[in-house]
Amino acid sequence: MKDFIITIDGASSSGKSTLAKGLAKHFGFKHIDSGAMYRALTQYAMELQLLGEDCYKIKELISLLPTIKIDFNSDDFVMLNGKVIEGKIRSLEVAKYVSIIAKESIFRKFMVDRQRELGERGNVVMDGRDIGSVVFPKAEIKFFLEASIDVRTARRFTELKEKGDVVSYKEVYDNLAKRDEIDSTRLDSPLVKPTNAIVLSSQESTSENLLAKAIDEIEKKRS
Ligand code: CDP
Repeated sequence: MKDFIITIDGASSSGKSTLAKGLAKHFGFKHIDSGAMYRALTQYAMELQLLGEDCYKIKELISLLPTIKIDFNSDDFVMLNGKVIEGKIRSLEVAKYVSIIAKESIFRKFMVDRQRELGERGNVVMDGRDIGSVVFPKAEIKFFLEASIDVRTARRFTELKEKGDVVSYKEVYDNLAKRDEIDSTRLDSPLVKPTNAIVLSSQESTSENLLAKAIDEIEKKRS
């Protein structure tokens, strides 16, 4: 097959990453989790105490941007300045602040430029909120994943519990609801269904069924 790009967009915990990993494995592509890039920057800002409760030192964070390099290692784990920080970025604490960072155009531009560099050679599955609409609007294959907030909360709650995080269902629900709102109402690149995107529901589907459906759609489109 010729080189191509697959984009997957959708709300938090709609199953984007699982589908992206499955497609990357099937096609031998690289998986770029764009949410991990925003989470990495958020975690870095929190570590430097530029972001936290009643603290948002945006100017200081902006001034650090030229010193920040985001990459993915051979296992598709995000790295910030050469360090793999996958373990730290998935906490509810980072999730509480990430959408505040992600709504600022200056941070979006920084990420979008890097995402385009990482995807320019094709053979990439990239998932996020604006990948099919803004980052790669001309991508050959675009998916948009949907699921109710209850299903998404249950999924994320189980994931966090399995990791050993102490969180309540309500905290997870509230975090998803808040991020849904910020991500879909922000002025710069809000979460939308990209033009020509294939809509898939992960509401009741197992991840195996969803992957099979997505592969089927890709083969139909490319035949
Ligand atoms: O894992 P989850 O689905 O909860 O979210 P994520 O994909 O890790 O993304 C975390 C946050 O980054 C989102 O809530 C958005 O605020 C932001 N994000 C974004 O604005 N644009 C993207 N392309 C990806 C993520």
